[in-house]
Amino acid sequence: MNKVIEAIEQAVKAAEERLASAADASVLEAVRIEYLGRNGLFPALSRQMGTIPADERRETGAAFNAGRGKIEAAMDAAAQRLQGGVAESAGIDLSLPGRKLPRGHKHPISQLADECVSIFRRMGFIAVDGPEIEDVRHNFDALNTPQDHPSRDPQDTFYFPDGRILRSQTSPVQIRVMESHQPPIRIVAPGRVFRRDTPDATHGMNFHQIEGLSVDKDVSMADLKSVLQSFAREMFGEKVRIRLRPHFFPFTEPSVEYDFSCVVCGGKGCSVCKNSGWIEIAGAGMVDPAVFANVGYDPEKWTGYAFGMGIERLAMLRYRIPDLRLLYENDVRFLEQF
Ligand code: DAH
Repeated sequence: MNKVIEAIEQAVKAAEERLASAADASVLEAVRIEYLGRNGLFPALSRQMGTIPADERRETGAAFNAGRGKIEAAMDAAAQRLQGGVAESAGIDLSLPGRKLPRGHKHPISQLADECVSIFRRMGFIAVDGPEIEDVRHNFDALNTPQDHPSRDPQDTFYFPDGRILRSQTSPVQIRVMESHQPPIRIVAPGRVFRRDTPDATHGMNFHQIEGLSVDKDVSMADLKSVLQSFAREMFGEKVRIRLRPHFFPFTEPSVEYDFSCVVCGGKGCSVCKNSGWIEIAGAGMVDPAVFANVGYDPEKWTGYAFGMGIERLAMLRYRIPDLRLLYENDVRFLEQF
């Protein structure tokens, strides 16, 4: 063993000892400068290589490389120990991912209402709002509802002592918009409605509807059908079909109820659609001329269609929710799924 090898081994031993007991990073830097820095020991030894007899060079070179490697490894180990050391002793593992703070989000009904609005907006409708406390004129009279219509009954609608009501449908927003605007009109109005129902799996005392109204010249049932068809596709996918069935509403003539083909079984028949292949979504029709007259529009000049649908209905289908009440119990385990 020559002198250079001896010096290398001593240096490695000393450096390893200092690094093992280093209390902070300044020791690491000092060791680096002293041994590996430009004016440090290893570069100096490297310059002495030329003085080593030829038959010892190989062995000396190997010891040189190994020694430098050992010091570097000891420096890495010390750096790691110093980094983790403080936190570890305090019982904190800095390498763990952060804890996520729980964050709230919109209620599934609000999300779905937003989605409905954005679908209709792409078809040129504007979203409008109406009051939840209504008067009988907007909720019933102007909508051409006969005086003896059962929906007016206090058994079905909530009346305040002063005669005002909690709106039983979003249709009064149609009246408010037509009273304050001239055609052409293309609006949707999402919102909460109230009915005196006994809550069960498919009924609540309040629920949400989205109302649509389009008034222009030469509006036809075909326009209505194509808007509903496009909505159904956007909401439930390309394969959904719709059908219109004759029905009666005081404010539309002709009136229809419309169904979507069952999105669960694709129309073959299952428990969700009660084996019919169709699911009832809501009502629609051509605006009754009497309604136009009530808001001061010329029924000879203007034509229009209107539709309304239950948002909870859509939610049940979209998310396969078996019981409406789940939506209102505010159980976080349920709401978190949306
Ligand atoms: N307002 C009706 C209801 O709550 C739904 C409806 C039917 C709305 C026909 C409309 C319509 O705009 O044209 O049952």
